[in-house]
Amino acid sequence: MFGKARSKKPSPLDAYADKVTTPALAVTHIRSGDHVFVGSGCAAPRALLQALESMPGLPADLELLHFFTVKAFDHDADGHSTTRLRHRTFFVSSDMRAAVKQGMVEYVPMSIARVPDMILLGRIPVEVALIQVSVPDEFGYVSLGVSVDIIPAALARARLVIAEVNPNMPRSMGDSTLHVSRIHHLVPVATLIIELQRMPRQDRDVQRIARYIAGIIDDGSTLQIGMGQLAHEALQYLTDRKDLGIHSDVVSDAIIPLLENGNLTGAKKTRQPFKIVTSMALGSRRLYRLIDRNPLFSFQPIDSICNLLTISKQHKMVSIAQAFAIDLTGQVCIDQFDGEFYSGIGCQGEFLLGAAQSPGGKPIICMTSTTDDGLVSRIRPALLEGESATIARSDVHYLVTEYGIAYLFGKSIRQRATALIELAHPKFRPELFAKAQAMGYLSAEQSLHNLRAYPVEEEQTVLLKDGRSVLLRPALSSDAQGIRELFHHLSEADVFTRFFRNVRGLSDAEVERLCNVNYENEVAFVAISGSREESTIVGQSCYFIDPTTNMADVAYMVHPQWQACGLGSAMQACMIRHATRRGLRGFVADVLLGNAKMLRLARNSSLRVQAEKNQDAVHITILF
Ligand SMILES: CC(C)(COP(=O)(O)OP(=O)(O)OC[C@H]1O[C@@H](n2cnc3c(N)ncnc32)[C@H](O)[C@@H]1OP(=O)(O)O)[C@@H](O)C(=O)NCCC(=O)NCCS
Repeated sequence: MFGKARSKKPSPLDAYADKVTTPALAVTHIRSGDHVFVGSGCAAPRALLQALESMPGLPADLELLHFFTVKAFDHDADGHSTTRLRHRTFFVSSDMRAAVKQGMVEYVPMSIARVPDMILLGRIPVEVALIQVSVPDEFGYVSLGVSVDIIPAALARARLVIAEVNPNMPRSMGDSTLHVSRIHHLVPVATLIIELQRMPRQDRDVQRIARYIAGIIDDGSTLQIGMGQLAHEALQYLTDRKDLGIHSDVVSDAIIPLLENGNLTGAKKTRQPFKIVTSMALGSRRLYRLIDRNPLFSFQPIDSICNLLTISKQHKMVSIAQAFAIDLTGQVCIDQFDGEFYSGIGCQGEFLLGAAQSPGGKPIICMTSTTDDGLVSRIRPALLEGESATIARSDVHYLVTEYGIAYLFGKSIRQRATALIELAHPKFRPELFAKAQAMGYLSAEQSLHNLRAYPVEEEQTVLLKDGRSVLLRPALSSDAQGIRELFHHLSEADVFTRFFRNVRGLSDAEVERLCNVNYENEVAFVAISGSREESTIVGQSCYFIDPTTNMADVAYMVHPQWQACGLGSAMQACMIRHATRRGLRGFVADVLLGNAKMLRLARNSSLRVQAEKNQDAVHITILF
């Protein structure tokens, strides 16, 4: 008697047995001179690449073409790339950096959103596509998994498609399926999908930048987070925001807490609401598990994600790009540093432009103000040789460093240079200032007073009696224009009570005295209404310390449309708090006899107020 033969477990590839092969056999179909497209990101087909690299009698003149790979090519103990092949890439990832130095790589600086078209037109040739996919479903469809990006275009042109079929590849939803009939050779693998874990960066500066970025992201924003670490760090500070959405070239694990916390509903998105729309996932197994067969995600080809029209139609589109350097006119370098090509342009250009055109959108560029070793300022008088202006100065809107946020769009060179110097590390400010003056960006009369880090903790939002709110914050020298405009809104009487004379206009030096202060013996605050794009200075206050008395001379001015709502009182309270912390004894002010508003303001301080009448003025002393 014979026992029952043990039946082999059926495999999803059984129906395609004639296509199933090994990596070594599959790559023998590649011919000399072929342009071989390699699947992107964490979905790079590593078994096929290894088989190709170790192929005896390697076909001649092969060129590998890829957007971006992660841990797909090996390096020796000295960090040299061991690749035997020539590469053409649109992104210099860590995989490619050594190979670039070894002269094995052609870097193509172009928007990745335009690559599919170029491939389809045959201007970027592709004869072979090596990809990694999920196992087929009952209809014979595999999923491109965690990377869709430019793969559909490569598949459309390739004479030969070889796919690693991996049960660990998540079956992503969206436009990410491919019928097995379009694949010529199937290579079963069961390796774990490459993970790209971003180490959280706890350094104070990075976290500050992340908080600043998060601070300007409103409820209902649609986010693009790109490849840079800072954008991913910013997401952790959005856990009190409502109805955020994702329309992004890349997603990472940083979205998971927002999803779990209910912040990421996508309800306000104009295009594909409620869906997380992306082209590539770079993350951990946790993220890949979340994506697997999850209709919440829609994976799309990069040209449909990075479509300018789609981006600009999104509700409050926020695009966050991390840069290497910016010059004082606002030219930004994102793909080259110290002469070396790093990363790539991706589709940052489309996202920044689209965000600028989207209703309520925000294009944000961020960077630490210095290189990691602190030795070089990333804010420079001019970009250096070996640095390209990837983002034109005409397209720059927000710039964020650990010293604050500048809004540069529509601003003059002088305003930009002034604002950017204040976002530089204080130790580099004098040099930047001198260079900016020498280059004619700043006037010879302009001076640099503020050499400290911007104290974001001193910012406060104040709710006024009539329900409006303003931001009270330390003044910056870039506030000069706004203060001049405030001055011109004051009535003649207000100008007289503020300056004790009839003044028709303020000279540069006079405006500077009201905002370009050193915060040692001079302090100035402004009250801002509106968003950063459309901000108006509606109030200004300052005090100047007399070291001989340890008292400070204080003054205020409030826009007529904002008077009698409690703004003066709020600014006075802010000034008193600030001066008390610094150990001052009190304030003095000379107030014209008829200035009932100011006299009332002083009396309302709930401190000891002494008034000494002169001929037509009252000398007020407020003791802390
Ligand atoms: C003085 C000034 C800064 C006050 O600002 P403000 O925003 O109006 O101040 P508040 O709204 O907090 O009002 C302060 C007090 O003045 C009173 N006040 C406001 N407008 C008034 C007016 N037209 N007449 C009489 N009292 C008035 C308010 O009622 C309030 O007192 P209360 O709290 O007892 O009611 C503002 O009027 C101004 O900029 N004036 C022109 C410049 C100037 O004179 N500066 C002072 C020289 S240092």
